[in-house]
Amino acid sequence: MVQAGVGVAIAASGSAAPIAALTNDQLSTIVETSDEWIQTRTGIRSRRLAQSEDTLSSLAAAAGTAAIAAAGLSADDIDLILLATSTPDDLFGSAVQVQAQIGATRAVAFDLTAACSGFVFGLVTAAQFVRTGTYRRVLLIGADVLSRWVDWSDRGTCILFGDGAGAVVLQATDGRDRLLGFELRSDGQLNHTLKLAFQGTPQPLTAGVTATAGRYQPIIMNGREVYRFAVAKVPEVISKALFRADLATSDIDWLLLHQANQRILDAVADRLGVPREQTLSNLADYGNTSAASIPLALDAAVRRGQVQPGDKIVAAGFGAGLTWGAAVFEWGVVET
Ligand code: COA
Repeated sequence: MVQAGVGVAIAASGSAAPIAALTNDQLSTIVETSDEWIQTRTGIRSRRLAQSEDTLSSLAAAAGTAAIAAAGLSADDIDLILLATSTPDDLFGSAVQVQAQIGATRAVAFDLTAACSGFVFGLVTAAQFVRTGTYRRVLLIGADVLSRWVDWSDRGTCILFGDGAGAVVLQATDGRDRLLGFELRSDGQLNHTLKLAFQGTPQPLTAGVTATAGRYQPIIMNGREVYRFAVAKVPEVISKALFRADLATSDIDWLLLHQANQRILDAVADRLGVPREQTLSNLADYGNTSAASIPLALDAAVRRGQVQPGDKIVAAGFGAGLTWGAAVFEWGVVET
């Protein structure tokens, strides 16, 4: 069922992060590294880490509840919960646990996996349900607890990641559509550069039939290749999304990139000609929180009063898969 004239607004945000923090100095007692090395190469000073009481679903539910409240809605108003995560509490999906925890009894809920691009892929997916008139109020959550899957003896990766959750509420409007343009990409040929893969060994069951038992292995990454990929591909996909929105870079108020590495953020901003002061960053205090990083940074900027209703934002995610994508949107519900 397609309803003509239904637009989507990205109306409100919320976020949550574990309280426990791990600073670079503390990390340097675990692996051979230093605060100076990490800050110079990544811009990260500290990251939040989920403790045993901080489940993926509890962080996601806290962020979701905050976003629903900020939208002036109650949990019962939500039609769909979309949880972008690569680190569910349950491989069958955690969105349904989030639904139960926030009491969104009417909502259908499911997970979406696109690693660090999960929030942008989720934003575009959620918007399709709204635009077709299928659902009027969607809670989109990006949440990850990659600390569960980091090899804490690998200094090339363990310095980068942190845990958190961020959420937005998308609402149907009878007016203008505020998702102005997007472009999504995938390249499985580069899958080997960043993985959190299952590894199993065959267990014989009966003659000629085995079942494979095993477990997921910690994150492995070729940092240099991922860095090169991000700096080359992210400006390209942003330019494409802006083109689809019929906007120039100079029309954009905020560049909101997946928070992977400050050097990547700066290089992308420079290539696009976006001034540093228009680039949102919370990397120093949170590290790379995967699907959570964009909505976490957005929510902080909204609460600071930096991002205002009507501001035009280009958000871009990139990461494992490999996946990458950009979405251009106007923040908040603004009738014109
Ligand atoms: N502390 C100190 N030294 C370290 C270190 C650490 N934490 N990690 C690596 N090194 C060393 C390496 O062993 C290497 O030493 P060598 O020259 O003696 O061999 C040297 O530093 C340079 O390593 P390199 O991997 O080339 O560093 P880099 O400048 O590429 O920085 C990353 C490494 C991981 C910070 C960087 O590649 C990066 O951020 N890539 C993108 C990763 C990313 O964003 N992934 C997620 C995408 S969603």
